[in-house]
Amino acid sequence: MCGIFGCILKNGNAAPIIHAALKRLEYRGYDSVGEATLYNGRLYIKKDQGKIDEAHKIHNLDDLPGNLGVGHTRWATHGAPLEVNAHPHVDCSKQIAVVHNGIIENFAELKLELENRGHVFISKTDTEVIAHLIEENLKTNPSLGLAEAVLEAVGRLDGSYAIAVISTKEPDKIICARNESPLVIGVNENAIYFASDIPAFLPLTNRAVMIEDGELVILSRKGFEIRKIADSGAVSREPKLIDWTSEMAVKKGYPHFMLKEIHEQPACLRNTLRLQEHYLELMATFPDRAREVFLVACGTSYHACLAASYMFSKLAFLATYPVIGSEFVEQHGKSVNIDSTILAVSQSGETADTLAAVNCARQRAATVLGLTNAIGSTLTRVSRVYLGQQSGPEIGVAATKTFTSQLSVLVQLALRLAKKRGKVSQDEMDFLAEKLEKLPDTVETIIRGQEEKVKQIAKKYKDAKTFFFLGRGVSTATAYEGRLKLMEIAYVPAIAFPAGESKHGPISLVEHGFPVVFICPKDETRKTLMSNIMEMKARGASIIAVIEEGDEEIKKLADDYVEVPKGIPEVLSPIPFVVPLQLLAYYMAVERGHNPDTPRNLAKSVTVK
Ligand code: F6R
Repeated sequence: MCGIFGCILKNGNAAPIIHAALKRLEYRGYDSVGEATLYNGRLYIKKDQGKIDEAHKIHNLDDLPGNLGVGHTRWATHGAPLEVNAHPHVDCSKQIAVVHNGIIENFAELKLELENRGHVFISKTDTEVIAHLIEENLKTNPSLGLAEAVLEAVGRLDGSYAIAVISTKEPDKIICARNESPLVIGVNENAIYFASDIPAFLPLTNRAVMIEDGELVILSRKGFEIRKIADSGAVSREPKLIDWTSEMAVKKGYPHFMLKEIHEQPACLRNTLRLQEHYLELMATFPDRAREVFLVACGTSYHACLAASYMFSKLAFLATYPVIGSEFVEQHGKSVNIDSTILAVSQSGETADTLAAVNCARQRAATVLGLTNAIGSTLTRVSRVYLGQQSGPEIGVAATKTFTSQLSVLVQLALRLAKKRGKVSQDEMDFLAEKLEKLPDTVETIIRGQEEKVKQIAKKYKDAKTFFFLGRGVSTATAYEGRLKLMEIAYVPAIAFPAGESKHGPISLVEHGFPVVFICPKDETRKTLMSNIMEMKARGASIIAVIEEGDEEIKKLADDYVEVPKGIPEVLSPIPFVVPLQLLAYYMAVERGHNPDTPRNLAKSVTVK
């Protein structure tokens, strides 16, 4: 999730305006920064790795000439967070500059094709192909205008993008295009702006035009012109007045980052479906040939590992051992060896306990794999192979969108392993792949349809002293995660365990009105789970069930229920089933008067042991 911004001013220098706007977008990523302007027929660029203030100290980002330019603040997805990978990216002749937010899925094929035509690439990014594609279009058809060349180029891109292109060929224009990454235009009497998000230009104008997927925009001193990418047809759209404060704008109008991030999950899940095939394939080779596989993480990331252990077992018939980071050295430090593979999962890539486990494993010559949301983090540097989970920065302290993204990547890895090991029929693989593709929409449906209901449940139980969260099979991980969310942000002591354990002790806590949350996908565990629900009900518990739509049997037993769409395969179920639990924790925190974004005593990245 990068931030892009640019402007065409009637008077004055664009660079300081771009710099200030990028600062306002820094919450979208801060791995590197760059600006490009056009002046007197020449392209000027300044860029570097690191945060905006650090790069500005070294390069003075305000010191670029010209009243037209583009800028970028980066959240690395392809290529390490180094100067060479910082945007803007240019073509071979250095006449075209491109900034981009999104992921180009087919960049490797396009790169190869362009290299065969003589293009020379400098960076490891997916973005650079766009500059070269436009250059190639203009070379093969010199009569094309810049907008037409961009139109042709984006027609070849698979994936998500919000891009802005400038060129010495038409130095009075900026061409932008959008598919599944945000893009908005701002206008006032003195300037026209584009940005990833409204906060970037809100201090300059409150008149905004939302650009939609499949649209291209030509910005010039005269104003803006929107066209459909598919047929170049003109689109007419008037600016809207935005009445948000800057703080509201950063949260996109949501009262808290946590709620915004819960709502971002469909988009994040779409991004996770754009993993580079060859990295997934490479990653899958190691667990396939290891003697033992550990899945190591802390907190929410550990719950993703726990769910993954069921996925690996059920799909790839591979036993894996989920281990809490802080326990790894004690439990396995002496036995881990050259035949072991450790898959470390860490959103931040900096969690001290997870890294300590990784260090121990590396010292004993085990293979370390990483899954993280922070490319360039310590975990990426110490991993033999790593995957980026593509969630974008998460600001709320409680992990939400990063959890479902981790699950999506892990299930794709499990499917890849299943294929390698020949354990699942092609029909089943196709069926699961199709269901996985639909998950972003499923999650969207849950948020849209169930949020109000969850809010009412939170109101009803806001004074509860404690909760149980119970599930069976892979839903045990979902239950653990629901419990952690509620505890950490609403400060409600809660207990989670596999539902089958109830009668071995915990059930003694249950008395009239004791809230018990059951995670109830329609899988093989359902029959026994029903018995567990009845056991609890018989002792007066209040049953809150997360069920499949239309599950009448459980509806009859439950005091309250939330529904998720039908037909979700068991191995995918933690992704949709956790969403109502995230919402429950959020609304419980709000009802109890706590700020869910900043729970006491907690930090986003835990860098101490
Ligand atoms: C809970 C939460 C924490 C983290 C844990 C690991 O909402 O955010 O439990 O999951 O501190 O962090 P990472 O994934 O950065 O290693």
